[in-house]
Amino acid sequence: MDLDVDAAAGVLRAGGLVAFPTETVYGLGAHALDERAVRRVFEVKGRPADNPLIVHVASLDEVDRVAVPTPLARRLGGRYWPGPLTVVLDARVVVPAVTRGGLGTVAVRVPAHPLALELLRRSGLPLAAPSANRSGRPSPTTAAHVRADLGDTVPVLDGGPCTVGLESTVVDARGEVPVVLRQGSVGAEELGAVAGAGPQLGASPGTRHRHYAPRCEVVVADPREGAATAAALVAQGRRVALVGPPEAPHGVEHLASVDGAEDLGRRLYALLREAEDVGVDAVVVEAVPEDGVGRAVMDRLRRAAEPR
Ligand code: TXA
Ligand code: MG
Repeated sequence: MDLDVDAAAGVLRAGGLVAFPTETVYGLGAHALDERAVRRVFEVKGRPADNPLIVHVASLDEVDRVAVPTPLARRLGGRYWPGPLTVVLDARVVVPAVTRGGLGTVAVRVPAHPLALELLRRSGLPLAAPSANRSGRPSPTTAAHVRADLGDTVPVLDGGPCTVGLESTVVDARGEVPVVLRQGSVGAEELGAVAGAGPQLGASPGTRHRHYAPRCEVVVADPREGAATAAALVAQGRRVALVGPPEAPHGVEHLASVDGAEDLGRRLYALLREAEDVGVDAVVVEAVPEDGVGRAVMDRLRRAAEPR
């Protein structure tokens, strides 16, 4: 079922769920302060209860409704919002424990997508929204991906393909130095420059859980080794798809040639889903350099490739 922004805002105000686009990935939204609505988000995703949700708000000023802003959060928000950065802050008491995964903190961001911002304004609500996939699957970057995972259980606001394609960078902003809890498209080097110090590295609760895996095996090849790696797997009698080089050896399904880390980041989750749809046993993806967004891309790719 598709719907427009007004109808979606109505569903959310009534305590229902709506999947909506952001610049990073599609989110599965609920009124962040409505315990019952948020509980349903965990059910629909099959998400572990100890993994807290990100609360989306319409502007930096609105952070106050759910969290205690710090000078560092204001500086980061002022620089990156609307955009793919999430800050973790001390939570206001109005935020139910279920939204926070039982922690005393809450994660907050202002998304950079016109439909998401419109939905936040029309509903007038802070919206808790994890990625709109079944837990453990690649995050959805189109409305079709959301439907493939969640079926007709939730209505989807269709805003086309996501432009960033990787989840936001999550940063603990309670202190004076940012602590990166999840890599994302805003690189750590850049954050340190904006904050004037750091960053340090930490881990969000979500990084403990298994993630981003399609139904076929994912094999990470060294740069320029993708074709040889794929050919070796074909020689073992396996059906193989390839992502990275401009063409594929005989007998290998060529899924995409990729133009650097940013391009791979934008398309990675869609390509993992495409690999399972074409029915191969394995998809080989060529590694990209690990700087800037490349760090987040390789983090996601390695997790997708973890043996199950
Ligand atoms: O780009 C994104 O961040 C997307 C879009 C929809 O905004 N959302 C997203 O949500 O990726 P999700 O739930 O898939 O990932 C949220 C991450 C998890 O790693 C979670 O553990 C972490 O943020 N997180 C949430 N609240 C936290 C908190 N209070 N402290 C530490 N980490 C937190
Ligand atoms: Mg997720």
